[in-house]
Amino acid sequence: MKKAIYPGSFDPLTLGHVDIIMRSSKIVDELVVGVLHNSAKNSLFSLEERVSMIKEMTGPMPNVTVSFFDGLLVDYMDKIGATIIVRGLRAVTDFEYELQIAQTNHVENPNVETIFLTTSLQYSYLSSTIVKEFASYGGDISKFVPAQFIDRIYERYGIKRQS
Ligand code: PNS
Repeated sequence: MKKAIYPGSFDPLTLGHVDIIMRSSKIVDELVVGVLHNSAKNSLFSLEERVSMIKEMTGPMPNVTVSFFDGLLVDYMDKIGATIIVRGLRAVTDFEYELQIAQTNHVENPNVETIFLTTSLQYSYLSSTIVKEFASYGGDISKFVPAQFIDRIYERYGIKRQS
């Protein structure tokens, strides 16, 4: 039974994240999308909102569940019995940081392996930070996030969508 976690802040969930969730859920038995509860970070959406948004998107995926964690990822994985970390790699700029985290996690717990999926080409530029930047200026984010989240994101910036 291969249980994996796809950890992240998901503030907000992007189409790039959804792509990684769909693809990785096909190569493991069970995938937990683990939302990081980072109280120090000023997030656009609360932890509860982020978890519920991801649940909305992953509802039809039979082997995907959503939860949140606080503290070290390897400790949470131990608690839920997951041994695989899934991360998306967009470009070479991601590599150094991701390699560092993957190696540290492996040293902390040698049973933990990280697998990287290269992001699909159409999402290789995408990040939650870019989505927030665009949305804050009223830019078109329809190609970046699931359609049902667009209004909710604009609302956070007091912007009414011009459709
Ligand atoms: O996609 P993100 O938001 O950059 O995700 C970063 C995340 C959640 C994978 C990373 O910050 C993390 O695992 N944080 C939990 C704390 C932890 O275990 N840190 C050790 C990694 S060196």
